[in-house]
Amino acid sequence: MARGERWRRAAPADGARTAQRAARGGPGRRDGRDGRGGGARGTTGGVALAVVVLSLALGLSGRWMLALYRARRAVTLHSAPPALPPDSSSPAVTPDLFWGTYRPHVYFGMKTRSSKPLLTGLMWAQQGTTPGTPKLRHTCEQGDGVGPYGWEFHDGLSFGRQHIQDGALRLTTEFVKRPGGQHGGDWSWRVTIEPQASGTSALPLVSLFFYVVTDGKEVLLPEVGTKGQLKFISGHTSELGDFRFTLLPPTGPGDTAPKHGSYNVFWSSNPGLPLLTELVKSHLNSWFQHRPQGASAERYLGLPGSLKWEDRGPSGQGQVLVQQVTLKVPFSVEFVFESGSAQAERNQALKQLAGSLLTQALESHVKAFRERFEKTFKLKEKGLTPGEQALGQAALSGLLGGIGYFYGQGLVLPDMGVEGSEQKMDPALFPPVPLFTAVPSRSFFPRGFLWDEGFHQLLIQRWDPGLTREALGHWLGLLNADGWIGREQILGDEARARVPPEFLVQQAAHANPPTLLLPVAHMLEGGDPADLAFLQKAFPRLHAWFSWLHQSQGGPLPLSYRWRGRDPALPTLLNPKTLPSGLDDYPRASHPSATERHLDLRCWMALGARLLTRLAEHLGEAEVAAELGPLAASLEAEESLDELHWASELGFFADFGNHTKAVQLKPKPPQGLVRVVGRPPPRLQHVDALGYVSLFPFLLRLLDPNSSHLGPLLDILADSRHLWSPFGLRSLAASSPFYGQHNSEHDPPYWRGAVWLNINYLALGALHHYGHLEGPHQARAAKLHSELRANVVGNVWQQYQATGFLWEQYSDRDGRGMGCRPFQGWTSLVLLAMAEDY
Ligand SMILES: *[C@@H]1O[C@H](CO)[C@@H](O)[C@H](O)[C@H]1NC(C)=O
Ligand SMILES: *[C@@H]1O[C@H](CO)[C@@H](O)[C@H](O)[C@H]1NC(C)=O
Repeated sequence: MARGERWRRAAPADGARTAQRAARGGPGRRDGRDGRGGGARGTTGGVALAVVVLSLALGLSGRWMLALYRARRAVTLHSAPPALPPDSSSPAVTPDLFWGTYRPHVYFGMKTRSSKPLLTGLMWAQQGTTPGTPKLRHTCEQGDGVGPYGWEFHDGLSFGRQHIQDGALRLTTEFVKRPGGQHGGDWSWRVTIEPQASGTSALPLVSLFFYVVTDGKEVLLPEVGTKGQLKFISGHTSELGDFRFTLLPPTGPGDTAPKHGSYNVFWSSNPGLPLLTELVKSHLNSWFQHRPQGASAERYLGLPGSLKWEDRGPSGQGQVLVQQVTLKVPFSVEFVFESGSAQAERNQALKQLAGSLLTQALESHVKAFRERFEKTFKLKEKGLTPGEQALGQAALSGLLGGIGYFYGQGLVLPDMGVEGSEQKMDPALFPPVPLFTAVPSRSFFPRGFLWDEGFHQLLIQRWDPGLTREALGHWLGLLNADGWIGREQILGDEARARVPPEFLVQQAAHANPPTLLLPVAHMLEGGDPADLAFLQKAFPRLHAWFSWLHQSQGGPLPLSYRWRGRDPALPTLLNPKTLPSGLDDYPRASHPSATERHLDLRCWMALGARLLTRLAEHLGEAEVAAELGPLAASLEAEESLDELHWASELGFFADFGNHTKAVQLKPKPPQGLVRVVGRPPPRLQHVDALGYVSLFPFLLRLLDPNSSHLGPLLDILADSRHLWSPFGLRSLAASSPFYGQHNSEHDPPYWRGAVWLNINYLALGALHHYGHLEGPHQARAAKLHSELRANVVGNVWQQYQATGFLWEQYSDRDGRGMGCRPFQGWTSLVLLAMAEDY
C-alpha cells in the first residue's frame, strides 16, 4: 500500500534513515527510450529544449537551467481545465455536501468543505475514576483503549449513527442534516452515553466538550444563560452567512425527562488545530461541584467556570469556544446548528431539529438507508444472514464516514532526471489544493492515499456516483504540470501533525498504481450520463496522468516498465522495498538496478492503455485513440507479455532483474542483522517470488480465457502450499523463501504472506469474469470464485464479530485481524464481495 507508515512507526531509527535517504536519493531517470509506444509525450520536451537553447544563448549553464525548469514544473499545477465546475465545493454550487463529518481522525466532528472551514467537534472524559487528569478522548488513536468504534449507518451525505465503546461507557453519536437556505442548511447532533453493562452500581460522571473553531478572522459571539451555560453561540462567516449553535439541556436517553447538568465554558484564540486537545487538557484544572437536586454533590475537573476571553496568541487566527457539560450517565445531549438563510427561507415557522423531531428524522433516515442498501447490494436477496448484512452496512458506513476534506500544501522533491543521484535538493511547496477523499484508516492513515482511493471509490460509486465524481475530480486536480500525482497527500495542519517531518516529502519521480482507473472503467461501462459528462471533462487529465506514467516509469526494454524509487540496497535490508508499487516489501529483484522490469506495473499500464483507448473512442477523441490504440494492442498481446515476464523455468509470470534467492539476514554485532549474499550470486533472471505480483495478468483480466497460462495460474492460486489459505489468498506463497520474513531487524513482514482485501477482491472479480466466459477453465474458475468468496467473507465476518473492527490485513495462518484498525478503506470491499459485484 506504500503507506510505509506502519514500519516507520515500528522502526523509527531504521525506517527514518532509510526514508530520508530515499527522499534525498533517487528521483527517477527519464529513460532515454522515449518514442516507445508513441505519442505519450506532452510538450515538456519542446519547452525544455527551448529553455536549454535559450540559456546556452545567454551563456548560462544548460544543466542548471534545466534543473530549475524541472523543479518549477514539479510544483506547478497542470494546465488542463478542471474536471469539476469552478467553486464546486462552495455552498452555492454543492449545498448538500458543504457540511460533513470531514474530519475522519476525530471520533466525532464536522466541518465545511472550505479552505477556511468552520469546525466542530466532541471530546469527552470520564470524571474521577483515576487520580489526576481525566483521560480526554478526541482524536482516533490506536493505543488509547477506545473501541470498537465505527459508523453503524452513514449515507455520505445527510445522516449517520456511530457507536463508540470506551471502557465502562457506550457512546452513540448521531447527526442529521436538513437542507435549506443558501449556505448548506442546518444540522443537529445527538450524543448519548450509557453504561456498558446494565446494573452497574455507581454510575459514572462524564463530561462532554462541544467545541466550535474558526480559522482566520471569522467571529463567534457567545450568549450566556442564567445557569452559566451558553444559551447559544451566534456567528457570521462569509461562506455561512449568519448562524447559531445551541447546546440543548440534557435529557434521559430516549426520553424528554430533563437531567441536571453542570456547565463550564472556555473561549480563546485558536492555537492551531493540532493543539486543540492539549489546549482543553491544560485548562481542565479547576475543581467544581456537580450537585443535582436531591443527590449528594460530586467533584469534577472543569474548564474555568465563567466566560472570559483568553487571548492566547496573535489575532487573526480564529477562535475556539468549548462548552463542557457534566452529568451522570445515562443521558443524551443535543447540539444544533441553524443557518440564518435557512431560517429566513422557512419564515421561522419550522421548529428546531431537536427532541422528538430529531428522533423522527433519525428513524426515517435509518429506514431509508436500509431500503436503499438492500436495493443497491441485495444482500438479503442473496441469502446473507442479518449479521452479515449488518457487517456490509458497517463496511459501507465506515468508508463513507471516513471521507475527509483537506486543504493545504504538500512538500515535493522534484524529479531531477538523474536516478540515484545524491543531489541534496530541497523539497518545494506544492500550491495549496483541496482534496475530498476517503481514507484508509481513521486512526492510522487519516489522509488521502492514491492507490487506496481507487479501491475506495469502487464501493462508493455503487452507493453514490456523485461522491465518486467529486473525489476523482479532486484527485485529478492534484496533477502537476508533468502529469504526476503524489501518492500520499498530507494537506493542512491537522494531517501534517500526524506524520513525522521526515516523511512529509513526496517525490515527483515516483508513481503509484493507477487504481483510479478502476472506478473510471466502471463509469464507462455503466453509461450514466452524469458520469460520461464528467469523463469528458476529466479526460485530458486522465490522459496526462497515464502519459506521465508511461514516460516516467518506462523499463529497460520496449513495453516493459519499472517502478522508480526502490529503496537503496542498504546492508540492513533483506530486500529493498518498492514503496511506489503499493506492495511495500513484496520481494523484487534482490539487487535493485535499471535492468528491472516489473510485472504488476506493466499490467496496470496495459489496463490503462486499453481503458483510455476505449474512453477516447467513446468521447470522439480520435487523435488520442489513434495514439494509444496501438500501445494498448501491444501491451495486451500475450506474446509480448510472455517474452518479458513468463518464467518458463518457474512456471509463472514474474518480475525480471538482477536477482538471487541466496540472501539472508544474519546477526553481526554491533550492527545487528545484516544481509548476507550467498551462492549462486545475483544474475539477470526472473525473480522467484510467487505471490500477488505473479497473478497480475489474471487479476486485471488481461489473459484470454483460452490462454495456456490460465490453467497453471489457477493451479497455483488454488494450492494451499502456495497462495490458497482458508482465509483468502496469501500475498506471498507459503513456499517462497521470503514468506513471513522480516525485512530488517525492526521491520516485520507486511506483504509477505498476509491476506489483503484489495487483491482478494480483484481475484474474486477475475474468477467471476473467467467463470462467465467460455473457455477450458470456466467451470473451475466459477467454483474457485465461490470457495474464495466464502473464505474471505467468512473470515472478515468472523473477525468483525470477535473484535468489532475491520482490519488492515488478515493472518493467513489463523485468520486473525492484523495491522491497524479500524481499517475501513479497501477492507470495506468485503461488501462488494458479498454482493458479488465486481
Ligand atoms: C548484479 O549485482 C551484482 C552485485 O551488486 C553486481 O556485481 C553485478 O554486476 C550485477 N549484475 C548485473 C548484470 O547488473
Ligand atoms: C476459447 O475457445 C473456445 C473453444 O475453442 C471458443 O469457443 C471460445 O470462443 C474461445 N474464447 C475466446 C474468448 O476466444
